[in-house]
Amino acid sequence: MLEFDEVHVGYGRSVVLHGVSLAVPADGVAAALGHNGAGKSTLLRCAAGLLKPRQGSVRLDGEDITRLAPHQRVARGMAYVPQGQQSFPHLTAAENLQLVADGRRDGKQAMAEALDLFPALRELLPRRAGLLSGGQRQQLAIARALITRPRLLLLDEPTEGIQPSVVSEIERTILAVASRGGMSVLLVEQHVGFALTAAQRYYVLEAGRVTSSGEGGTAAESAVRQALTV
Ligand SMILES: Nc1ncnc2c1ncn2[C@@H]1O[C@H](COP(=O)(O)OP(=O)(O)OP(=O)(O)O)[C@@H](O)[C@H]1O
Ligand SMILES: [Mg+2]
Repeated sequence: MLEFDEVHVGYGRSVVLHGVSLAVPADGVAAALGHNGAGKSTLLRCAAGLLKPRQGSVRLDGEDITRLAPHQRVARGMAYVPQGQQSFPHLTAAENLQLVADGRRDGKQAMAEALDLFPALRELLPRRAGLLSGGQRQQLAIARALITRPRLLLLDEPTEGIQPSVVSEIERTILAVASRGGMSVLLVEQHVGFALTAAQRYYVLEAGRVTSSGEGGTAAESAVRQALTV
């Protein structure tokens, strides 16, 4: 569905990804795993079109999108949830969602569906996003992305720095939306167990290279843990 073919990308003169190839399955989840600084967020920024490869190509459903701008990728059904629970802190939770919903004919319905997935958000709607907890802000950010009814969701460490009770809620919702079909997910995660439960494919990144990859599922866990310790 989304394919990276030998992608080299970086910032200014420094190259971060050195020839990364990967594939996100149609209607499935691919997980990118790796230590801090391995290049996982860089990978997602490149998928979202915020960074342009110097070499290699990116395809979406067979179409070469390597040179497409972020908004053109959004128009093709991509949604990106960056690392760090980002939202507009001075707007209320409702306004954060409305911003996206207003631009869509099906916005009202899509917003209701997103809130059904994160029911805890309903009573927080009048509250400023900046006053929400990290877990609540993360749910808000994912809900906002889902309002666009993406075909491909790019999720960067959705459970990072979040209290354990909320982590399982977020994980459950990601599994639920991923399994209802019609959407692919490229998931960046530090939690190996959850990532492999969700994913059909995994890729371990090390210093900007894929050093291990394979089918997801919990059976892959020991191979992945081993790849992450070397
Ligand atoms: N805006 C930037 N400008 C220059 N270098 C950057 C920038 N962002 C990241 N880097 C560098 O690129 C490399 C990969 O960073 P990246 O954020 O992609 O890693 P990551 O795998 O997402 O790490 P983490 O698990 O900490 O989120 C690091 O060496 C980092 O210092
Ligand atoms: Mg990162």
